[in-house]
Amino acid sequence: MDELIEKSGFEGLSPTEIQEITAEMGHYEDKTAASIEALKIVQKHRRWVSDPCLVAVSELLGISTAQLEGVATFYNLIYRQPVGKTVIHYCNSVTCWMMGAERVREQLCRHLNVKLGEMSADGEYTVLPIVCLGACDHAPVALVGDQLKLDLTDNAVNEILKR
Ligand code: FES
Repeated sequence: MDELIEKSGFEGLSPTEIQEITAEMGHYEDKTAASIEALKIVQKHRRWVSDPCLVAVSELLGISTAQLEGVATFYNLIYRQPVGKTVIHYCNSVTCWMMGAERVREQLCRHLNVKLGEMSADGEYTVLPIVCLGACDHAPVALVGDQLKLDLTDNAVNEILKR
């Protein structure tokens, strides 16, 4: 492990991250299969995955940066820009859109005083769109951190931000 950490290509990652990613790689025959988990590990420690971290992870996995970037782009819960402590994903797929997703987005952004994709001034929140969360019969829906908020009403901000 120390040898790995000393290799300059991984210096964008902490020893803990390298250790956790290496352990994850051990679960797969094909190291590429550990891509998403490796990115999640970085995100768990930093909230987002910077370019230097992406390069370091790709080198650790032994895959191209472009390949890993493709994975990160496809998986929309990997953040490639800094985000707040809590990320609020409002669903903007068709059913939620028909049931008021734009109202939810507008209320959230106004209440938190942020533009879509930006971090609130206190570093607490980021609002992002997401594709169908699989709860269309409860539209409109939002994913707040790892909690699904269903049947959002005109009082969406209170329903989303209450602890
Ligand atoms: S369209 Fe929003 S949960 Fe399916």
